[in-house]
Amino acid sequence: MISPLALLRRLCIPALPLAALVLASNPAARADGLNGVWRLDEPKAWGVTLHTYLSLHQANGVLTGGVYPNGSGEIPVQKPHTEGDVTLFQIDWGWAFRVRPEGANLHVAIEYGGGAKSDGVAVPVSQDELKAPARIALPALRVLPPNGLARTPPMGWNSWNHFAEHVDEDVVRQTADAMVASGMAAAGYVYINIDDTWEAGRDADGAIVPNTKFKDMKALADYVHAKGLKLGIYSSPGPLTCGGYPGSYGHEEQDARTYAAWGIDYLKYDWCSAGRIYPESELRAGYQKMGEALAASGRPIVFSLCEYGMGDVWTWGPSVGGNLWRTTGDISDSWSSMEAIGFNQGRLAPYAAPGHWNDPDMLEVGNGGMTPTEYRTHFSLWCLLAAPLMAGNDLRTMSADTREILTNREVIAIDQDGLGREATRAAEKDGIEIWTKPLQDGGLAVGLFNRSAGEKPVAFAWALAGLSAKPAAVRDLWAHADLAASDGYTGSVPAHGVVMLRVK
Ligand code: GLA
Repeated sequence: MISPLALLRRLCIPALPLAALVLASNPAARADGLNGVWRLDEPKAWGVTLHTYLSLHQANGVLTGGVYPNGSGEIPVQKPHTEGDVTLFQIDWGWAFRVRPEGANLHVAIEYGGGAKSDGVAVPVSQDELKAPARIALPALRVLPPNGLARTPPMGWNSWNHFAEHVDEDVVRQTADAMVASGMAAAGYVYINIDDTWEAGRDADGAIVPNTKFKDMKALADYVHAKGLKLGIYSSPGPLTCGGYPGSYGHEEQDARTYAAWGIDYLKYDWCSAGRIYPESELRAGYQKMGEALAASGRPIVFSLCEYGMGDVWTWGPSVGGNLWRTTGDISDSWSSMEAIGFNQGRLAPYAAPGHWNDPDMLEVGNGGMTPTEYRTHFSLWCLLAAPLMAGNDLRTMSADTREILTNREVIAIDQDGLGREATRAAEKDGIEIWTKPLQDGGLAVGLFNRSAGEKPVAFAWALAGLSAKPAAVRDLWAHADLAASDGYTGSVPAHGVVMLRVK
């Protein structure tokens, strides 16, 4: 499920209608120097400076306006109040601000949801800096031929869930080493994908240049390829990525050629600030532009659409050359986030097929916010959903439990089954759900999930899972054991746990 908070962020909403918010306490004491457009620069150690804009209007005790974090559109000011000369407010991303005039500038302290903080001085700038770049026309819609890639859901690793901005070339090399050493490569994982924050800017010819975290992308791709693996990268159809780094806007063909020259095998393309320029009705054309550029690059590059489930992408994703498309807002490393996303995917099952897949976002297995039982549920559900399996943890330091989950070949085989069907919910009662996925050998994968907080006995006849005849064999894919269960299943499922079966 996309949270309202995440949705705002994802949509990069340019200007929400804003109710005037009355300062809660002591308006007479409030500072009056907040009016204007302010730019807070955040220099990063890797030679990139990010910008957050505040556009504030304060009159007659009423503070209105909003914040433009990174490349996003305006996120309105909420719950303003004053404490002495400091004005406090929030925005919907879960960021809390404390601002106070400081000479001609504005002192801005931000607390981000996760506890991280920043503190700096914002300078006054002209209203023009807030303007989105001029619109560039998009191609007329057409249906691109399939690129022939991702006949089964792509498997690999992506830097975002664990490393966020702390991904660098060493992490990527070491992750490639760990993918091989841990047995993940042998279990089918191939892609090593660099997410946002690798970009610096453009050179005199307009070519995208990595920041100092990445010295040489071609050499990095060579290293990854020499391990038998493939390298992925990230960009946006907008001027800026979700992290505020340069996107591909106006440089789509050039970037696709650059990626091909580096030896890139996978592109995650994240809508982000494109939402400030194009309405949702133009998502498809925006993605088609890069789909065409990738096709023209001459290199096979998996095309991963990241649009948070907007625009009924599943109905047109394959037409733009998409191999996978996000069906939701961002996952986080918690049972509630994973559960809300994973158990909500059944209606999209008709849209998954060899070559193009629903993407309920990357795995959180091993990141620490769930128990091993919950991570087995997360992994089993993603495999039943024929989801891309992008590990999102630190492969270099993962525990034996995590490795065992990520490399369970019997469960992975359900994800990678050649029929390419996605599971749907067959039955549901008292927190127990039965999900089934038809398999190429005529069998069925069956997930018995317990979403409740206590262990539960489960007993059902096979007809409930849609079987018309008694099965010849039933295998428990986590216990790695054959079961004598020809009439039905009788057992128990732990709280938040799963029993994953393969029925022939
Ligand atoms: C968006 C995407 C995430 C990640 C970040 C990077 O939030 O949905 O998966 O790529 O951007 O900034």
